[in-house]
Amino acid sequence: MKQLKKIKGTQDILPEKSIHWQALEKHVHTRMALFNFKEIRTPVFEMTEVFARGIGQFTDIVSKEMYTFTDRAQKSLTLKPEMTAPVMRAYMENTLYAKAQTHKLYYIAPLFRQENPQAGRLRQFHQFGAEFIGSAAPEADVETILLALDIFQSLGLTDMQLRINTVGDPPSRAPYKKLLQDYFRQHISDPDPTVAARIENNPLRVLDSKDPALQEIISRAPRLVDHLTPDAAAHYASVKEQLSRAGAPFTEDPLLVRGLDYYTHTVFEITSDALGAQNALCGGGRYDLLARELSDKDFPAVGFAAGMERLLMALEAQNKLPGRETAPDVFMVCLGDAARAEMATWLRRLRDAGIPADADFLKRSPKAQFREANRSGAHFSLILGEDELARRCFSVKDMRASTQQEIAFDDIISYLQARGGNHS
Ligand code: HAM
Repeated sequence: MKQLKKIKGTQDILPEKSIHWQALEKHVHTRMALFNFKEIRTPVFEMTEVFARGIGQFTDIVSKEMYTFTDRAQKSLTLKPEMTAPVMRAYMENTLYAKAQTHKLYYIAPLFRQENPQAGRLRQFHQFGAEFIGSAAPEADVETILLALDIFQSLGLTDMQLRINTVGDPPSRAPYKKLLQDYFRQHISDPDPTVAARIENNPLRVLDSKDPALQEIISRAPRLVDHLTPDAAAHYASVKEQLSRAGAPFTEDPLLVRGLDYYTHTVFEITSDALGAQNALCGGGRYDLLARELSDKDFPAVGFAAGMERLLMALEAQNKLPGRETAPDVFMVCLGDAARAEMATWLRRLRDAGIPADADFLKRSPKAQFREANRSGAHFSLILGEDELARRCFSVKDMRASTQQEIAFDDIISYLQARGGNHS
């Protein structure tokens, strides 16, 4: 039968790589705790409406990238392509707002988007991210941006760029949108269907088009920063001032608009020079209008999400991958049936004492068992043969020092504990 293959754009994370994933996840949990963010986990699929209403009908994600299917009850469900809308859905459904005025939430989750796979762009990928719900203050934007930077910096990552912009509030945006629409209609004579649709539905998205033919026109387009209401301008100024005070260098990028419709005020991205074309490590911003898209309530919020595959690629390129291979402290070599009968009992005693231990499960020859002990990376081999059984001891081989000695059954645990092995 033909060997089955994984789905295009998905990855198997094998043991040699999962050590880095585990270390990265642990790092994320630790840093999030330092900032007092608490973990939230949401289902892997949601009603399609959560995303259609939350992210916006005309965004790339909703219009062409979602894995949407109808279940047996004829409900339209979607594998989550991002976490912000589900987190807001969960926040409101569970009335977290009744428990405290602000909530700092974070997640680590697999996500699904039907994009064209390439380096750093997958169909199942993973994000960690944070959503700070309940505060409209620019301080919350800054806290969120500094959190993202902290996680990258504390991993040792260098050569990152923080780009920020404002997409304003609705009173700034409505007149600006018309202005921009008129400008593009006037200057782009024969737009392709995608650009034409963006001009009509969301002209801000034309600003981040990569089409070389449009760059000249885009560079001369009216800028939202020049059309902000006093409130929106003050919010943006405060974010920039606080970032400067906190010593976080940033570049203002008036063309940064991001691909999701829920943003208001601050938007940002952190890119890495260690990555290729897909160089965004993380993206985020304020999204004060999302709650109302999903319910009849308003909750200001700000957040970001970081692609973990990309982050690991950047760390690898800079030789900073976290985590190291694990090995058992002890490998038991059992010679003969009587010794093998004791194997499970001894493995349990060792593990109960916190000593990582393994053994041979193929009834192999002594020579093959020693080879396996070596391959496992264990510090010690515990050899149990007829002789040892009779004398109630192990022959203990220190695989690093290449020395061997006998240790009585009664002393073996304390002997190994005193020597630490691989797990210390
Ligand atoms: P996003 O820009 O769509 O924002 O994704 C954030 C990050 O996820 C990207 O910068 C990238 O590192 C990673 N990413 C996105 N798509 C892929 C892919 N196909 N393959 C690999 N990595 C990918 C959001 O998802 C928003 N929910 C962020 C946010 C949170 N805004 C406010 N709160």
